[in-house]
Amino acid sequence: MTERIISSDQKSEDIDLDITLRPKRLSDFVGQDNIKESLDIFMQAAKKRKEPIEHVLLYGPPGLGKTTLAHVIANEMNAHIKVTSGPAIERAGDLAAILTNMTEGDILFIDEIHRLNKVIEEVLYPAMEDYALDIIVGKGTAARTLRLDLPKFTIIGATTRYNLLSSPLRDRFGSTWRLDFYNNQDMQKIINRSAKMLAVDIEDQAAEEIAMRSRATPRIANRLVKRVRDYADVRSDGKITHNVAHEGLKLLNIDSLGLDEFDRRLLEVVISNFSGGPVGLGSLAAALSEDVGTIEDIYEPFLLQLGLLERTPRGRIATPKAYKHLGLDIPQKFQTLL
Ligand SMILES: Nc1ncnc2c1ncn2[C@@H]1O[C@H](COP(=O)(O)OP(=O)(O)O)[C@@H](O)[C@H]1O
Ligand SMILES: [Mg+2]
Repeated sequence: MTERIISSDQKSEDIDLDITLRPKRLSDFVGQDNIKESLDIFMQAAKKRKEPIEHVLLYGPPGLGKTTLAHVIANEMNAHIKVTSGPAIERAGDLAAILTNMTEGDILFIDEIHRLNKVIEEVLYPAMEDYALDIIVGKGTAARTLRLDLPKFTIIGATTRYNLLSSPLRDRFGSTWRLDFYNNQDMQKIINRSAKMLAVDIEDQAAEEIAMRSRATPRIANRLVKRVRDYADVRSDGKITHNVAHEGLKLLNIDSLGLDEFDRRLLEVVISNFSGGPVGLGSLAAALSEDVGTIEDIYEPFLLQLGLLERTPRGRIATPKAYKHLGLDIPQKFQTLL
């Protein structure tokens, strides 16, 4: 089996790469212009009032810049940022310990916030709304609640699964931003920027080719730049020419639309095992021996974006475009529609 470029489990070298290439200021953050403009106003207003910014929720598929934006906000606000994640906060006491250690203006970044357990969520509500922590002391009839005041701080939550967030939690964020897949031009900018930071020469046509195959996702673009650089170092003189990019990407089995083998297998399974769908996500996941969450979070969004897959109330269907991309005959049922 070949390596999966779009894996959910990040290897440590990827994490290092993410950190090295992560833009630090809003002005280095490429694309997402609407979000940048609004965030800028939002932050400047808070600065003017000398207040911490309101809680911010960022959502969207992996690799589009949620963690990056959280750090950018902290930099722009000159604030300390503490980083944690939904699954890392196991007990209410863990959260209480974090919150009581914050000082005014600090930012708490909670990644994968949809994975917070319900008990902890309830501790978070008054903390977000009233900057207060309710602690229960004593047992049984002697139990009482103590309210501790917290400094004014900001929570930045990030999630790939907005739908899994409870509505009381959603409501406590002052603003919510959805990150979108990047357009080709922005992808090229990101690729050129990364190449520059990695001190490697890249031809425009090569950047274009890598952009086309990066699933409109900066994290993947960065990974591909790094892999193609390796290829250039070994097979050529280190420069990423168009030809080097082309050959290097071919070796990684990424096709002209940026799909890897798993994406193609997913479409093939919908088409051959389920007659093109509709197929429920559970059945599809079982047929692929993959978990539902991974398919929904990592693979499906881009296939939907490309219009290769469609979501219907009865399940997922492969579109005529999917048949065409895989070089298969478009079935009769679509011909009548066309
Ligand atoms: N808008 C952007 N401009 C430049 N690079 C970006 C941008 N968004 C993301 N990246 C790059 O992609 C990497 C992954 O982004 P990250 O913020 O970790 O994604 P997420 O948290 O949404 O999964 C970052 O380390 C950064 O190098
Ligand atoms: Mg992240």
